[in-house]
Amino acid sequence: MEAELLEVRRQAIARIEGALTPDELELARSAYLGRSGALKALTGRLGALPPEERRAAGRLANEIKAAILEALAAREEALQRIRGQAARAAADITVPGERRPIGHEHPLRQAEAELREVFARLGFEAVEGPEVELAYYNFEALNIPAEHPSHDSFDTFYIGGDILLRSHTSPVQVRVMEQRKPPIRVVVPGRVFRPDTPDATHSPVFHQIEGLVVGEDVTFGDLKAVLTMAMRELFGPNTQTRFRPSFFPFTEPSAEVDVCCEIGGQQRWLELLGAGMVHPKVFQAVGYDPERYTGFAFGMGIDRVALLKFGIPDIRLLLENDLRFLEQF
Ligand code: PHE
Repeated sequence: MEAELLEVRRQAIARIEGALTPDELELARSAYLGRSGALKALTGRLGALPPEERRAAGRLANEIKAAILEALAAREEALQRIRGQAARAAADITVPGERRPIGHEHPLRQAEAELREVFARLGFEAVEGPEVELAYYNFEALNIPAEHPSHDSFDTFYIGGDILLRSHTSPVQVRVMEQRKPPIRVVVPGRVFRPDTPDATHSPVFHQIEGLVVGEDVTFGDLKAVLTMAMRELFGPNTQTRFRPSFFPFTEPSAEVDVCCEIGGQQRWLELLGAGMVHPKVFQAVGYDPERYTGFAFGMGIDRVALLKFGIPDIRLLLENDLRFLEQF
């Protein structure tokens, strides 16, 4: 009997100390102390024992009951303490989360993406070329003579010898034509560099998108149609364009194209791009037969498009990386 009682105590204490929840604890309690629990089953048999043994076993049973009750109380307190700590440590899931600011495209990139898209719809493939360029591609192949002012180091960043930071995206015209045969229809967005003093409309680093179309019957009419459509896509269906005669060594005839826009409630013409029919000398430089092929080219300032589209008053704002400015677009 004594051994059985001690075994009940051992099992009961082990189960109580292993209880992880109040429910498990309650199950342990009733398994050992309950009406049909293990201890009751044993004490029910006390009456059958001889008086001496009965008294000793009865005392032991009472001690064991007290020990089990004590273990239950201790475990209950421990469980409550653990639950309190867990509750304090757990996050309050009702507090709104902290949002990480998700950036967005820079207004210049937005303007570039839109230009790529507009020209893609007109059948132009976008390609890119090097920002560090050989003087040959930037000047000679484009029929820009040595005495031309843009050749001068005041107007171009030379890196050394005949290597320079390209002053326009037109050298990529030559690179593309060297590698392909007509028909060609590409646009070339990219960064260009000129040692200009920064002001509201000038920056030593700015962006252009070059266009080049070469084929067998490409005319100035095609040039006008493509650019007029592109401007309407960019600035709205009622956008007016103006083609003014101009000069570039690599196009003949050449034009400057203005767009009529509303600026501060006033209608104003703004020069947006240079354009023209590809000069025969440029075709000769890349080994195309100028008697067979004709083409047109244009170069547009992406920064200017961004200024117009977003109503930004100063080109320098685009390169300052001030989030208070950039977040507005
Ligand atoms: N490259 C010229 C510039 O930067 C623009 C241009 C491109 C003009 C293509 C005609 C044809 O001013």
